[in-house]
Amino acid sequence: MKLLGTGSVIPSRVVTNDDFSRFLDTSDEWIYPRTGIKSRHVISSEKLEDIAAQAAERAIADAGIAKEDLDFFICSNVVNEYLTPGLSCIIAAKLGISCPCIDINCACPGFIYAMDIAETYFSARKVRNVLIVCAEEPSRMTSWEDRSTCILFGDGAGAAVFGEGDKVKGIKLNAEPSVDKLFQYRRLMPTPYITKEESDIPLQMNGREVFKFAVTTSVRDISALLEKAGLRVEDVDYFMIHQANMRIIEGIRKGLGAPEDKFPTNIRDHGNSSSASCPILLDECHRKGLFKKGDILVFSAFGAGLLSAAAIMEW
Ligand code: UT7
Repeated sequence: MKLLGTGSVIPSRVVTNDDFSRFLDTSDEWIYPRTGIKSRHVISSEKLEDIAAQAAERAIADAGIAKEDLDFFICSNVVNEYLTPGLSCIIAAKLGISCPCIDINCACPGFIYAMDIAETYFSARKVRNVLIVCAEEPSRMTSWEDRSTCILFGDGAGAAVFGEGDKVKGIKLNAEPSVDKLFQYRRLMPTPYITKEESDIPLQMNGREVFKFAVTTSVRDISALLEKAGLRVEDVDYFMIHQANMRIIEGIRKGLGAPEDKFPTNIRDHGNSSSASCPILLDECHRKGLFKKGDILVFSAFGAGLLSAAAIMEW
């Protein structure tokens, strides 16, 4: 498959590190050096499905195809206000499209997992055009009284349209299942028969463990993928890394031995927007005119699961 178009939309409300220090025992002096984050956009009056549909409209327009030409729609999402139907159906209704659609919940590497599913459909010749939308509101998963998690995340939606072609040169998925390092627990409706103890638990994270997983797995995923494709680190023009923490990105860069200018980032103004992170970064770089024909882009993302994934794509 090949990328035809991208789009993204972020909520209007900006929360700075200084805003946090008004109600939490934290500071820009703590947050910025440890994460690279200065501010993030969070959902306020918007609905996630609205910004997701707008991001999709932009990607479809950028791809230059008609909505009717979409054959399949994959939505990556961890949390939204509906338990059912899937967010893909809600966005599809807003877009006025009726191709088959599915939701995946693969946390931060969701964009690459969605690419892998799309690639499989292309290989089976079942589709000609696939829409991927990654829409996330992690600001609604954390406790805003927990300074170790709520400062890390931002909301947003990123979208991409893929068509037939041979520009995706490889995808690698990886799983190291472990629930307690990064999870949120939600109570379901009570019944007269529930006797076990249940409670809502906001996002819990073992930051140090996730940090280690992120750096090691990303370097491993990228190195294995490049080797399989017969490429070297020097052949890559841009490393599009999940924007979780600037120090994680820096660790990956050093692990690969690649120069700083090959790592575009937007974490300073976005924070970690889970699976929306990679497609938002992709869209922003594309709209700035960063990529030229033939450039080699490598994506890498990691998160809850624990899951990780990487992909190589020629622009
Ligand atoms: O998509 C993947 C999602 N996950 C991630 O990207 C997270 C990966 N992990 C990280 O980015 C880092 O582990 C963090 C940025 C979350 C934390 O950095 P750290 O250097 O591992 O700090 P820590 O958790 O070990 O905490 C050190 C200290 C603690 O105080 P004490 O116990 O030493 O007195 C924390 O209570 O820093 C304190 N702390 C804070 N202080 C001010 C934690 N968060 C804050 C805060 N402001 N926001």
